[in-house]
Amino acid sequence: MNDVFESIRARVKELLESGGADPEELRIRFLGKKGELTALMKGMGALSPEERPVFGKKANELRAFIEQEIEKKKQAILSAAEAGRLKSEKIDVTVPGKRQFVGKHHPLSQVERELTDIFVGMGFDVVEGPEVELDYYNFQALNIPENHPARDTQDTFYISRNVLLRSQTSGVQVRTMEKQKPPIRVISPGRVYRSDEVDATHSPMFHQLEGLVVDKGITMGDLKGTLELFAKKMFGEETKIRFRPHHFPFTEPSAEVDISCFVCGGEGCRVCKGEGWIEILGAGMVHPNVLRNCDIDPDVYSGFAFGLGIERIAMRYFNISDMRLFYENDVRFLNQF
Ligand code: PHE
Repeated sequence: MNDVFESIRARVKELLESGGADPEELRIRFLGKKGELTALMKGMGALSPEERPVFGKKANELRAFIEQEIEKKKQAILSAAEAGRLKSEKIDVTVPGKRQFVGKHHPLSQVERELTDIFVGMGFDVVEGPEVELDYYNFQALNIPENHPARDTQDTFYISRNVLLRSQTSGVQVRTMEKQKPPIRVISPGRVYRSDEVDATHSPMFHQLEGLVVDKGITMGDLKGTLELFAKKMFGEETKIRFRPHHFPFTEPSAEVDISCFVCGGEGCRVCKGEGWIEILGAGMVHPNVLRNCDIDPDVYSGFAFGLGIERIAMRYFNISDMRLFYENDVRFLNQF
């Protein structure tokens, strides 16, 4: 009798130790309805009354043993799985991170945004105009008829006789005044083109920001006040501005506007080339002919306009001496701003 129990016990052990046994299969094979131990128990009825309790005790012990072994095996499988998961999901927080490269705005865009922010803060709207422009908007409507000498200074690229790449953003003044009646307060940043040779201060493509204000009773005082406030916000509270008489066909009177050097404050230094002043824009009172071309009565309305070169400001602002650097897109240069 002992032999039967011993043999089952031995086989259970062997199966478990060999590692191949699935605990559930073991349970079915030995303890299930048709299992070996179950079969033995069923035969108990044939035993003598003295043998039965001994047999029963042995059988119960074996059952407890098998159940316990199966449970142990289950636990072992679970903890092995858990250990594997922990291992595979482990994160080594001491490994150096992968560097993320974050892009940024081009220095010209940074300056354009800063300029735009300042004027928007003063109540200007931002408008846009086409870079491929009609001769009419770029020249004629701005009081520059065909053959006018002012065209020489703004020679540009012609698509056809009447279509060109705009040489200035001033055409947006006309486009705006055609669409919108006073009061008008707009700025318009964008690309412009001129057939200039490339050098440290010239490029056939560059950027301007145009400004236009038209309303009843607008005076040169408004122009000065606006530009002075702008200059202080852009270059610092101590900044002074200076108007020098100039000529633009579409403004009268016209001026070139300088700011006191924001590096030396007017003493003279490398940035201002010893002048103490830096020229930043052209401006003036909108010429009556330009207003008339847009069906705005110059006896009722008046306005001022200004146009500044974004490269010029960016070069001074970041102390960049060669304009070509802006267009080469060398990240070693661009990363510095
Ligand atoms: N458009 C002129 C230029 O390109 C600048 C300007 C704009 C002057 C508006 C007066 C008024 O030089």
